Amino acid sequence: MAHHHLLFITFFFLISFSTGDDAVVMSKLSTSIFPTPSTWKTNNFCDWEGITCDNSNRVTSVNLSSKSLTGTLPLDLNNLSQLKTLALQRNSLSGDLPTLANLTLLEQVLLDNNNFVSVPSGFFSGLTNLQTISISDNPNLSPWSLPNDLTQSASLQSFAASNANIIGSIPDIFYNFPNLENLRLSYNNLIGALPASFGGSKIVNLWLNNQEQGLSGSLDVISSMTHLSQVWLQANAFTGTIPDLSKCINIFDLQLRDNQLTGLVPNSLTSLPNLANITLENNKLQGPMPVFQSSVAATLGSNNNFCLATPGNCDPQVTSLLEVAGALGYPISLAVSWEGNNACAHWSFISCDSSTENVTIVNFSKQKFSGTISPSFRNLISLKSLLLSDNNLTGSIPTILTSLPNLQLLDVSYNNLSGIIPEFPQHVRFLHGNNPLLGQTIPSGSGGSPLQHPKGSLVSTGMVIGIVISVLVFVGIVSCACYYKCYGAPTKLHNTDHNEMPIPENGNLMISIQVLDQVTNHFSDNNVLGRGGFGTVYKGELDDGTMVAVKRMKSDVMGTKGMKEFRAEIEVLTKVRHRHLVALLGYCIDGNDRLLVYEYMQQGTLSQHLFDWRGLETPPLSWKQRVTVALDVGRGVEYLHSLAQQSFIHRDLKSANILLDDDMRAKVADFGLVKIVLKGMYSVETRLAGTFGYLPPEYAGTGRVTRKVDVYAFGVVLMELVSGRKAIDETLSDESCHLATWFRRFLVSKENITNCIDQVLDTSDEVTLESIFKVAELAGHCTACDPFKRPNMSYVVNVLGPLVEQWEPSQLNEDQTYHRHHISLPHVLQVNEDTNSMLFNVFPPNSI
Ligand SMILES: Nc1ncnc2c1ncn2[C@@H]1O[C@H](COP(=O)(O)OP(=O)(O)OP(=O)(O)O)[C@@H](O)[C@H]1O
Ligand SMILES: *[C@@H]1O[C@H](CO)[C@@H](O)[C@H](O)[C@H]1NC(C)=O
Ligand SMILES: *[C@@H]1O[C@H](CO)[C@@H](O)[C@H](O)[C@H]1NC(C)=O
Ligand SMILES: *[C@@H]1O[C@H](CO)[C@@H](O)[C@H](O)[C@H]1NC(C)=O
Ligand SMILES: *[C@@H]1O[C@H](CO)[C@@H](O)[C@H](O)[C@H]1NC(C)=O
Ligand SMILES: *[C@@H]1O[C@H](CO)[C@@H](O)[C@H](O)[C@H]1NC(C)=O
Ligand SMILES: *[C@@H]1O[C@H](CO)[C@@H](O)[C@H](O)[C@H]1NC(C)=O
Ligand SMILES: *[C@@H]1O[C@H](CO)[C@@H](O)[C@H](O)[C@H]1NC(C)=O
Ligand SMILES: *[C@@H]1O[C@H](CO)[C@@H](O)[C@H](O)[C@H]1NC(C)=O
Repeated sequence: MAHHHLLFITFFFLISFSTGDDAVVMSKLSTSIFPTPSTWKTNNFCDWEGITCDNSNRVTSVNLSSKSLTGTLPLDLNNLSQLKTLALQRNSLSGDLPTLANLTLLEQVLLDNNNFVSVPSGFFSGLTNLQTISISDNPNLSPWSLPNDLTQSASLQSFAASNANIIGSIPDIFYNFPNLENLRLSYNNLIGALPASFGGSKIVNLWLNNQEQGLSGSLDVISSMTHLSQVWLQANAFTGTIPDLSKCINIFDLQLRDNQLTGLVPNSLTSLPNLANITLENNKLQGPMPVFQSSVAATLGSNNNFCLATPGNCDPQVTSLLEVAGALGYPISLAVSWEGNNACAHWSFISCDSSTENVTIVNFSKQKFSGTISPSFRNLISLKSLLLSDNNLTGSIPTILTSLPNLQLLDVSYNNLSGIIPEFPQHVRFLHGNNPLLGQTIPSGSGGSPLQHPKGSLVSTGMVIGIVISVLVFVGIVSCACYYKCYGAPTKLHNTDHNEMPIPENGNLMISIQVLDQVTNHFSDNNVLGRGGFGTVYKGELDDGTMVAVKRMKSDVMGTKGMKEFRAEIEVLTKVRHRHLVALLGYCIDGNDRLLVYEYMQQGTLSQHLFDWRGLETPPLSWKQRVTVALDVGRGVEYLHSLAQQSFIHRDLKSANILLDDDMRAKVADFGLVKIVLKGMYSVETRLAGTFGYLPPEYAGTGRVTRKVDVYAFGVVLMELVSGRKAIDETLSDESCHLATWFRRFLVSKENITNCIDQVLDTSDEVTLESIFKVAELAGHCTACDPFKRPNMSYVVNVLGPLVEQWEPSQLNEDQTYHRHHISLPHVLQVNEDTNSMLFNVFPPNSI
């Protein structure tokens, strides 16, 4: 009997204890949220609006969505141990989120569209029945990362946490979620690669777009996510090729734009059966432009590197070189430089015979390339030198290369090649040292070319050709040297062709003074476009109407720089090509004169359009035009910074060095110039490298040049765009003449920023005003005193991108300017002399 009694007491105690728990938490909840729902005055919380209880008066559901609630949640909310549903979405709740740890019955958690400020550690632990969680659009959460605890939620179907300030990488835990269908993590700051455990998952909707710095690495794992139907990966930093998606037959919406994807668009993509929507713009995709079915809304954009602006096969040399690039995994450096459909138009690592436009030299030395040597080199029939040394190449040397008829030098030393050592004709210098595995027993399946070339009569033919070429080369060198000595710089472009030398230095960029004299009407004053610190710039017009800008350097700024050094640096600069950099088309050395030939920018400088539009009798730039300019410049500088060497810091970025074309799209000018003239400038103390007003504070102190010097200057340009005021305005008082100092004082609030906005801008609509605020704020970050607090240019581009997109649903503008800079001056001049050329069918005459 006593026994019985005790049991009863224990039972009673338990009941009252646990119901008591819910009452306390519920009463706390009723006082911490506002306005408290009107039915929440009674004692029995189970009757309250939005609350559901079970038979034991334990709360199973709290549903207060869209009630305009403010306030916070009690931190011991997880005492509601029977809770299955917590729906608080679309309110303005704030404060720390309470932990949900150990709510083992919880199935649904909806917290999106609130203003919570932190996610506690252990938030997700022990949620063994969780199916749906949404915490998206809580932009003020302090940074948190995706927790490994989530693995305990094996029933998870939907995880949404977009715009929730998540940092770190996506953990490799997706094997644990056999039912996961929705993963939405857009607009965070996730970095790193897609986890391997995505492979084989049943995810249907995958939203990972618009990460602040960008997810990176390859997209290969997507090819095994066969349940996918909506895939948003845009605005990240993914690299490599678009994988084979032929097994992902349900995909209807695929957003890949704004990444760094390279390579050809695979046929498996264009033939996806359910595709309705795809974006590919702003990548570095190569090869023929893909053709999608007419039912597909596809944007390919102009910012890819398809060989032609319309669908169709690439030039055969281009096709072969793309196969070569493919064997190397389409490295980004090749994807960036190899633009257009003419492999001889300044593609890096490639040199051509300028009369036949056949590739004669491929020099991939020291590029850190990995991958294999493509047998497609064999299609480059005029190839003389193939330099592949100092990379990380594997596989075998394709034997078919022994039949390249004009090959003189093949250097594959310092790699990791294997397989047999093919026998080349005797006249071929074949360097293959420092490949530890080469010539040892052939590893099976090492990819040796099946096309073995029978040696024989060809060798002797090859030898004859070799001897003939050597003789020609020798004669060429001797006569060239003599010509130079006797007549100074060559007068005709094709005479400057060094390609007959065994290892030329891409010599066809030199332009004679006579040609430049003629195109500028004898350097007439009427042709002066402007004068800068380095010299005078003249407008020039070629016979076919193509315009160029010729910069004649002041002789004193060149100082003691030797001709060889000057030329070497120019050679580098002519290879730096980007849509938003003013292309250096050629150069001329004439006695002490140094001239640089640039593409012509019809609308002159940004500074003229910002500060002197009345004088120009043009309308002032609209805000839309200004942000577009900012993004263009950002992209140009980002590209410069992405080039490896220290020297690709601009050092003199300013609105006078930003030029506009007829569409008011911007390109950055004068990159590399400071470096070229700098040696001669050391002694000249009147002019620092850089321009006052754009120089960061640390520069004055240390003189140290880092990329952050450009970021600062870019910030000042943004301020000029917002305010319409010059970086230095000497007509103003001491407190306000330095734009950066003046502007930063107003950055404390939006109302204050309003005072800085250029009066001529139309700020009547919200979107414009918000956009201006964002740019002003970005300008503030870029001009932070501490260089380490300034963002890098990729961040800048990511901030500006969406602002431009708001106005730019179609890429029409960009399409029209496609390929504008893909042709070199010497080629135009050459074409001039050869009216039968087909080049202009691809590039209209004024498209330079
Ligand atoms: N590619 C071009 N197309 C059209 N106009 C140009 C081009 N390059 C320069 N100009 C014009 O020539 C002017 C002088 O250019 P330059 O680059 O010499 O001077 P800057 O950039 O103003 O100063 P600095 O070179 O001393 O930094 C420019 O302001 C611009 O109006
Ligand atoms: C929550 O439960 C813990 C013990 O499980 C208890 O100490 C605490 O007082 C409870 N809080 C509320 C508000 O009921
Ligand atoms: C919450 O309540 C609303 C009605 O007030 C209802 O439409 C909604 O489906 C409920 N949500 C959940 C998760 O039960
Ligand atoms: C959850 O339960 C585990 C074990 O049951 C316990 O160790 C842990 O402290 C609990 N966590 C919280 C936050 O209550
Ligand atoms: C295509 O995607 C865009 C952007 O995500 C969207 O606005 C549009 O509605 C989509 N169209 C289709 C057919 O899915
Ligand atoms: C090939 O390229 C490497 C690296 O850019 C360079 O050092 C080398 O001089 C080049 N070789 C020839 C023969 O041009
Ligand atoms: C240039 O290449 C084409 C085809 O690739 C070939 O027919 C032609 O003979 C080559 N010219 C020379 C000079 O090698
Ligand atoms: C060379 O490539 C292999 C794989 O192909 C890679 O594991 C290795 O790290 C690479 N080495 C260098 C120095 O890049
Ligand atoms: C060379 O390649 C082999 C496989 O072909 C690999 O095991 C080895 O690590 C590589 N060596 C280097 C230095 O990359």
